[in-house]
Amino acid sequence: MTNYIGIDLGTTNSAVSKLDETGRPIIVHNPHGSNITPSVISFSSAKKYDVGEVARKSLGEPNTFGRFKRDMGGKAEFEAFGTKHTPESLSALLLKKLKEDSESTIGDIEEAVVTIPANFANEAREATLNAARKAGLNVKHIINEPTAAALYYAFHSGRELDGTYAVYDLGGGTFDVSIISVHGKNVEVLATEGVSKLGGDDFDKALQKIVAQKYKEETGFDLEPEDYNLIDAEEDKKSLSRRETVKIGIRSAGGRTNFEVQQKDFEEAISSFIAQTEMLCETALDDANLAPSDISEVFLVGGSSRIPCIQKSVERVFKREPVSFANPDEVVALGAALYAAYKSDGKFLNSIQKQSVEKISVAEITSKFFGTISVGMDNARDQLARGNSIIIEKGEKIPCTKEESFFTMGEGQTAVNCVVTESNTKETDPKFVKIIWEGDLELPAGRPANQEIVVRFSYDQNQTMKCSFIDVETDKKTEVDLSMGKGKESADVDIDKFMVE
Ligand SMILES: Nc1ncnc2c1ncn2[C@@H]1O[C@H](COP(=O)(O)OP(=O)(O)OP(=O)(O)O)[C@@H](O)[C@H]1O
Ligand SMILES: [Mg+2]
Repeated sequence: MTNYIGIDLGTTNSAVSKLDETGRPIIVHNPHGSNITPSVISFSSAKKYDVGEVARKSLGEPNTFGRFKRDMGGKAEFEAFGTKHTPESLSALLLKKLKEDSESTIGDIEEAVVTIPANFANEAREATLNAARKAGLNVKHIINEPTAAALYYAFHSGRELDGTYAVYDLGGGTFDVSIISVHGKNVEVLATEGVSKLGGDDFDKALQKIVAQKYKEETGFDLEPEDYNLIDAEEDKKSLSRRETVKIGIRSAGGRTNFEVQQKDFEEAISSFIAQTEMLCETALDDANLAPSDISEVFLVGGSSRIPCIQKSVERVFKREPVSFANPDEVVALGAALYAAYKSDGKFLNSIQKQSVEKISVAEITSKFFGTISVGMDNARDQLARGNSIIIEKGEKIPCTKEESFFTMGEGQTAVNCVVTESNTKETDPKFVKIIWEGDLELPAGRPANQEIVVRFSYDQNQTMKCSFIDVETDKKTEVDLSMGKGKESADVDIDKFMVE
């Protein structure tokens, strides 16, 4: 059989999904029969690696890496047996394993949709696409995680959705909240906010800290991290979602020490993270110009949404009890499978599957501001200054094309500096924006000042961008395609030389 699949490439866990014969998305279990695969890679030699549960058990040891999604698109390095890996190359190895495991149970994979956090920066999106390509996957489309989740809820909540909904996604590494209007199979994102480094991992560390304090109170000694590592903390954190206290037993060189940690102490320790998520929910409502009473329902996504005080916090902000009628670790992958089938050419879908995804429509928005830097008069200081001009606003419906005209300043000017910037706020100061691309546009000599240069940015459905800097008189252009990993050189670790154990 040939399949279209959805992959939730998570910080902590990844999941794969496809449509069954009746058009329902189902999870593709891994060879161990599990619905999720820990996003952990452990190298046992220069060329051999393992992925998933076995690798997870070695977290904290040398040559074992997890949580690399948090640094996607960045400069972080992970060295194992002489090779410097990047988050992108590790993601490629993980995706390669997920692909091979899935193929061994469901057959060929024609095309895959990979999900990404809504707030991922351009570089992180590109790195994800590069990783998928290196893994040998045919990925033409990506979808934001909350949008995938909303798509799943739109299909399988057992009733037709018709209204405005919030998707609250708190996973292992990232937090996203999206305000989404759903009418039948039409899903339209109205606003999205999030932070790429907030999630269950932070809660594990918070619990580890509480345990270290209690241990010190009990014994007078400092707790060695290996006597209570982050995996122990994660297990106990999960127990605290079910009960009010958890018994901790620590075996160390000095013997065994037993004590209890209360749920309320843990809640207190993570309260600043929760406050941050509440603020972002309020901002998302503001962005959409809506009040909590406009939200019909709040859908919970992500493993950390199982924490009782998180659910209470969601209820506080949205003034209604949130709902979760699917496994929160699976909904993103399940939605991605629906999207993969919908975006496919349909060649390998049966008529029921085709029917199930027809009439879907998904409309996303930009999650960042994109702009360019130009020199202009700073009237306040009466001098020339560099400033950032926003070309595409955050929250703009996509696909979209926006342009703005700038003018050369010097007589006989033979080049202009072309810059593409990204920012989380409507920033005018170049110091506070991220430059995602920079180049030059050469101009003919001998012209007076004030030549019009058009800066045109087109943002496509995959949330990647093409930018043109055009000299209007001659139609000479400098163009950059920041989509599908074409913007920047990707990491050059050759993943094909690595074998799964
Ligand atoms: N019962 C529970 N109580 C508390 N936390 C839980 C529970 N079950 C899972 N988690 C936490 O949920 C997180 C994993 O969630 P999930 O699999 O949704 O994340 P992810 O998709 O890998 O991450 P992200 O979406 O941030 O990239 C882990 O931190 C895990 O400890
Ligand atoms: Mg997730």
